Amino acid sequence: MKAINLIIIGFGNIGRGFSDVLLRKEKFLTEQGYKFRVKAICEWNGSIINNDDGNGINLNEVLELAKNKKFNEHKNFSEKTANDVLKGVDADIALELTPGNIRTGEPGLSNIINALNNNRHVVTSNKSPVALKFNEITELAKKHNKKILYEAAVAGAIPLFNLCRETLQINTINNIYGIFNGTTNYILTKMTDEGTDFNTALKEARELGYAERDATYDISGYDTAVKVVIAANALMKRKINFNNVQISGITGITEEAIKLAKEHNYVIKLIGDCNKSEVSLRLIRKDSPLNIGGNLNAVMIDTDIAKDITITGRGAGATETSSSIFSDILKIAEEI
Ligand SMILES: NC(=O)c1ccc[n+]([C@@H]2O[C@H](COP(=O)([O-])OP(=O)(O)OC[C@H]3O[C@@H](n4cnc5c(N)ncnc54)[C@H](OP(=O)(O)O)[C@@H]3O)[C@@H](O)[C@H]2O)c1
Repeated sequence: MKAINLIIIGFGNIGRGFSDVLLRKEKFLTEQGYKFRVKAICEWNGSIINNDDGNGINLNEVLELAKNKKFNEHKNFSEKTANDVLKGVDADIALELTPGNIRTGEPGLSNIINALNNNRHVVTSNKSPVALKFNEITELAKKHNKKILYEAAVAGAIPLFNLCRETLQINTINNIYGIFNGTTNYILTKMTDEGTDFNTALKEARELGYAERDATYDISGYDTAVKVVIAANALMKRKINFNNVQISGITGITEEAIKLAKEHNYVIKLIGDCNKSEVSLRLIRKDSPLNIGGNLNAVMIDTDIAKDITITGRGAGATETSSSIFSDILKIAEEI
């Protein structure tokens, strides 16, 4: 049995969702020959650290405490920061699952740099630091002979990076484009299918928990732009940053435009385009595989050999996104 030690930084929706899936899939993981032990869980105000036995933290106990907002009442809670933990706790992989600031990348950027400098592999769902400092952190990982993987950071459960790197290796990727933001897709779908006005559709998206903490990132197109930057750098060898992306969001959409598009067998979607470094509203034919509704994401990979491949699925959700986090963790675990 191979023991893999983890540090979780950020115990919000994704941190808790991941822990829940880890518990649910324990039998499967054991059959695969792995024992995953969570050695520490860090929040902004302190950390729970497992110092004693070989089993790691009892996740059921921490999940129950977190549910009741009593994380810091755990017997092993101390005011140690993520930085203290990354330095002092022995672990193979750091999971960086904090909220990202698009302008600074913090606190995730410092956590990723500290993790790599302390010789941990990194798996993250946090898109901002990866988009802001893609070259710096991938170079740092190389320098330490560690991996940084971020399948969950772009299009949630959709296996974009793994598909391109592990299955489409022979292909040159000409472009990656599509719907990378579930909130805006939900709003546009509601406006198109039900004639709902923009503000009501946005309110519903918030009520359903689809929107990021600050929905302006979604509707302004910034969230999509960040994902375009990561996919373009990681899979198309482009060297672009956020400032290179031409961004327009969905706030200017009118009910008339949607109606007119419909009459001509088109729908209007917010499309991120890695080749053009652009986020914009585009007319998409009704019969296009990119015409998917609700809060789903759809990504089209345009290649020289396989031609077009479209993958659709859930771009968010704590359980769904954990699928991507596990694919990264298991890839690292194979090589440890
Ligand atoms: N939710 C999704 O479906 C989804 C999908 C794909 C990617 N992501 C990305 O994954 C990341 C986590 O998302 P989430 O939905 O889990 O967010 P979340 O629910 O806000 O959870 C983030 C957690 O990190 C904590 N935190 C804040 N600052 C911290 C710090 N300095 N050190 C340690 N912990 C800190 C937060 O504490 P407080 O709440 O007390 O501030 C919160 O518990 C984000 O970057 C998000 O963009 C999310």
